[in-house]
Amino acid sequence: MQNEPYIWRCDLQPQYEKYKAEIDIAIEKVLHSGRYTLGGQVENFEARFAAYLGCRYAVGVGNATDGLILAMQSLEIGPGDEVITTPFTAIPTGAAIVCAGARPVFVDIDPDTFLIDIARIPEYITPRTKAILPVHLFGNVVDIEQLREQVPAHIAIIEDAAQSHGSTIAGTQSGTLGDLGVFSFYPTKNLGGYGDGGMVVTERKDLADRLKLLRNYGLVDKDHIVLNGCNSRLDELQAAVLSVKLEHLDDMNRARNHIAQRYLQELRHLDLVPQHLAEGVVSNYHVFSVRMTTGRSELMHHLEKAGIQTNVYYELPLHLQQANAYLNYHKGAMPAAEALCREIIALPMYPELPQHYQSRVIQAVNAF
Ligand SMILES: Cc1ncc(COP(=O)(O)O)c(C=O)c1O
Repeated sequence: MQNEPYIWRCDLQPQYEKYKAEIDIAIEKVLHSGRYTLGGQVENFEARFAAYLGCRYAVGVGNATDGLILAMQSLEIGPGDEVITTPFTAIPTGAAIVCAGARPVFVDIDPDTFLIDIARIPEYITPRTKAILPVHLFGNVVDIEQLREQVPAHIAIIEDAAQSHGSTIAGTQSGTLGDLGVFSFYPTKNLGGYGDGGMVVTERKDLADRLKLLRNYGLVDKDHIVLNGCNSRLDELQAAVLSVKLEHLDDMNRARNHIAQRYLQELRHLDLVPQHLAEGVVSNYHVFSVRMTTGRSELMHHLEKAGIQTNVYYELPLHLQQANAYLNYHKGAMPAAEALCREIIALPMYPELPQHYQSRVIQAVNAF
């Protein structure tokens, strides 16, 4: 055991090595072009990403946190408005709502799918509710069509698809079913760049037009703004890299699925409960997280000693974060999310994870 290589929860280096030839050419082309922001690479990648998803408009932005903020701003959501979301998600989902000036309203999760419990959302709708912000967590997909049937038409649905590139529900790509969908290209994501990046997608031309203004100060030409926006542009280098990797996304997601199927078939520990995929979902397995109903920290310690890194997404739900104390939630308010935070553990998962590493993970867990 001692001399075996350490297994990272997520290792990005093998992916660069695998696609190095194509990526290096793409990067060099940008460097020689003399054009580094909002040029042909961004336009090309936006078109290709929209075609991949089967949606009409895609607007590249600096990162998905900005993408969520700009999505809300494009809908004119701001102070005095409420946005309903899940407490069991990455920090930026909630932070984006606050940064847009609105108030997050949390609805507890379904303990099996780890996703927002859409059946409970109607209880939380008030006259101030402007949007629902469901998160396709770890690659599992919220049933947006079912959600749409449960909320009045004037309430927007913004999909946080930061973790779900290529995940589908009933054959449709996640991120394309709501009014807006927001993707992250942070390096660890299923489609990851070598820096920050994000994309907002929509079927609505009015929203796409506003997003293009909002990401670039509101400029209509060199000297004139028609609204006050920010600087949140996807850059040419990231767009060029992402165009290369988009061609391999389905293969990479298939590789993740093979690993997940192996884990699901061969992990035998009785206290391990996998994330239940919602009806009709094909997950991209962004993260392979399971619930360890007893002894999570002991299992993590055991795996670390066997040279295997694990991680916890997420330690603390958003409603109990210090920054959100002003929202006046108390411990016990979201029991399903709070229990999951105590039990969740992520095992190594990345497309290039070698088979013998997978075997080592399985053997180590089963020996616990
Ligand atoms: C669910 C979720 N939403 C939003 C984000 C924000 O993405 P970015 O890092 O591109 O701002 C992330 C990334 O961590 C995420 O996992």
